[in-house]
Amino acid sequence: MAALGVTGPLPDPEAVGIVGIVGAGTIGASWTAWFLARGCRVLAYDIAPGFFDRLREHVKATWPALQRTGVATIEVDCALKRLAEAGTIEAAVRDADVVQESAPERLDLKRDILAEIDANLSPNRIVASSTSGFGVSQLQSSMRHPQRLVIGHPFNPPHLIPLVEVVGGGLTSEDAIQWALKFYVAIGKKPIRVRKEIPGHLANRLQAALWREAVYLVAEDIASVADVDAAIAFGPGLRWAIMGPHLVAALAGGANGMTHYLDHLGGVVEEWWGDLGTPHLTDQVRTKLIAGAAEEIMGRSMAELTQRRDDLLIGILSLLEQRRF
Ligand SMILES: NC(=O)c1ccc[n+]([C@@H]2O[C@H](COP(=O)([O-])OP(=O)(O)OC[C@H]3O[C@@H](n4cnc5c(N)ncnc54)[C@H](O)[C@@H]3O)[C@@H](O)[C@H]2O)c1
Repeated sequence: MAALGVTGPLPDPEAVGIVGIVGAGTIGASWTAWFLARGCRVLAYDIAPGFFDRLREHVKATWPALQRTGVATIEVDCALKRLAEAGTIEAAVRDADVVQESAPERLDLKRDILAEIDANLSPNRIVASSTSGFGVSQLQSSMRHPQRLVIGHPFNPPHLIPLVEVVGGGLTSEDAIQWALKFYVAIGKKPIRVRKEIPGHLANRLQAALWREAVYLVAEDIASVADVDAAIAFGPGLRWAIMGPHLVAALAGGANGMTHYLDHLGGVVEEWWGDLGTPHLTDQVRTKLIAGAAEEIMGRSMAELTQRRDDLLIGILSLLEQRRF
């Protein structure tokens, strides 16, 4: 049976003025900074006492990065005037043009929160859940208007990584999915559509596939943790910031692109696929991974490494922004 349409006319996805944020932890706070930088007003609700002061501090801390990447063009004090604390879910969503839910990854809790959002938000407004692990169909059961629920799955941190995976469930209307795709484009994100619900959505599955082989190579003593990481960071990882694995393969086929690549190397790659590992995270493998990571980290703190990663990421994003083809 086809899903029902969204009740009533949807707002213009390119003119969203107010975003309701429910759950302002790691992801909700980063979303907040992004929406503010793109000129939206944000009404934020979180159950944790004192969350609003922490949220404001988070926005201030992320602002220099948003300015360096060219996303924020105003000063943070000015942006913070558009951020308001909501004392209840109702207050966060009642006037919102769209709601981005980023509550903890617990099914019962998310269902309750989504039911409350649904009960207080005009039926012609879309609700996007940041969930990494649940399918939309699992989340829709508590809603009276399930047709307006989509997954809008960001990548951490959402104020830097452009990707948003948009997924609909069995009861989501096509209008809601199309609206969400247009909305994320309008606010400067790179949405992709995941056509069917699948555990881990899409990008995390790709990461998991690569990490599975990375663990296998360490478990089988083919290479150290540091060398496996170097193989990606100094090799294919450099290209992957520019183009994905399919286009990389097409380019490897020369003038005849993917056709030649498949004719020439498809068979060899298929043989490798048959040989890829399926390791288990046994105590022995865990010990190897932990020791190998410590050796690679060489005593540097996680904060230092995170800072370095984000600094370089900002450099890459700025470059891609200028040169994207
Ligand atoms: N952390 C990541 O890397 C990542 C990446 C993409 C998506 N996600 C998804 O984003 C969502 C949030 O994850 P997170 O990492 O920000 O978690 P988090 O624990 O940092 O934040 C969750 C926030 O929700 C608040 N909260 C708890 N109960 C609430 C309630 N009843 N009403 C309103 N707020 C409530 C908490 O106080 C907390 O501030 C999850 O669905 C997660 O799967 C996480």
